[in-house]
Amino acid sequence: MHREEVRRDLAEYAARIRLARLVREHGSPLLVLDVDRVTTQLLALRRELPGAQIHFATKSLPHPAVIRAVDAFGASFEVASRGEIDLLEREGVAIERCIHTHPVKTVAEITGAYLRGIRTFVVDSHSEIDKFRGLAADVSVLVRLSFPNPDVTVDLSSKFGVSPETAGDLVGHCVRVGLRVAGFSFHVGSQTVSADPFARAIRRTLSLMRRLEREHGIRFDTLDLGGGFPVAYDERVPAFEDLARGIRDALDGAPARYRILLEPGRFVAAPSMLAVTRVVGTTERADGPWAYLDDGVYGSYSNIPSEQTHPLVFALAELDAQPAPEPERARVERRLRARLRRPVTLAGPTCDSLDVVARGVVLPELRIGDVLVSPMMGAYTWATATGFNGIAPTPVVVVPG
Ligand SMILES: Cc1ncc(COP(=O)(O)O)c(C=O)c1O
Repeated sequence: MHREEVRRDLAEYAARIRLARLVREHGSPLLVLDVDRVTTQLLALRRELPGAQIHFATKSLPHPAVIRAVDAFGASFEVASRGEIDLLEREGVAIERCIHTHPVKTVAEITGAYLRGIRTFVVDSHSEIDKFRGLAADVSVLVRLSFPNPDVTVDLSSKFGVSPETAGDLVGHCVRVGLRVAGFSFHVGSQTVSADPFARAIRRTLSLMRRLEREHGIRFDTLDLGGGFPVAYDERVPAFEDLARGIRDALDGAPARYRILLEPGRFVAAPSMLAVTRVVGTTERADGPWAYLDDGVYGSYSNIPSEQTHPLVFALAELDAQPAPEPERARVERRLRARLRRPVTLAGPTCDSLDVVARGVVLPELRIGDVLVSPMMGAYTWATATGFNGIAPTPVVVVPG
């Protein structure tokens, strides 16, 4: 059912933005970045979690057009490297509104980020706190907590963060070295498909904050809920309204003075881009038909091996709306082929056997030159693509142009 809905939406979309025309004009492979979707996703966050400050996770889709759309919306950014600050500066973003979320940095990185305007950093160890000694008094830190969540696509608590039980120790260390602690941050895991992990983490953190404020005689002002908001790839996910309701309920008792921060990456980036690829070879192997594409897992489909996501793949020809003018015979032939649907293995362009995009995808019989489309291809795709095998990065075309 989800697949049918996605197909219907995509067909409408293909007609509206004229995918076939874009391929004719720009060639293939191609990533189509729809900046209006960036804004509608941000609007959903603002509508459902009003009052929360949005810091888009730059790493998920560090494209200048996305940065400009987020900035124009009035949201800010989380950054994790010097290169990301460079990008934001080039796009005219006010760096002093951004937060630096990497829990492990060199002293040079900290100082450089400070000089460029960052005032909020994240720490999760004694040695990291020591790196801030001597820095100006207007710096504050968030202590990163870990809430393990092995069920998610990427468990961001396996590499970073301390347990709520040991966090008090770090706060004590900050107080000793004169480093202001603004509050806490966590990341419940990317593609978290239920409100429960968010709600549990929020409640634990709020009670920790109350206890530490009493113990140390300090006042926190920030609770950063991180990212992790899910999108529907090949399966439905709960409506964002329901997820947000669970988050709002958990935040109910939070002191009014706490700023609530969000660091969404996938939720904003994924729906904003779709991947277009073309069949460059076909064959029949022992396990059935194979089609070789001009983009693959070392390129735009890098989210498949790194995140175990399963983006849907549709043939452009099978989408109902077909904006490209085509002669009557071609249309009849296309419809006939569309009826002959078979499971096919889709392989990427590198000379490497790992480069398989999907197996057993039911598609119309594919021929060389046929165009395939995958929605939900904005997050951790273009950003994590490699140039393996000397294959050039897939160009991005921005719509509306
Ligand atoms: C610190 C931090 N914040 C936010 C994000 C964005 O997470 P998501 O894309 O799941 O929303 C990430 C992702 O790696 C992250 O490391």
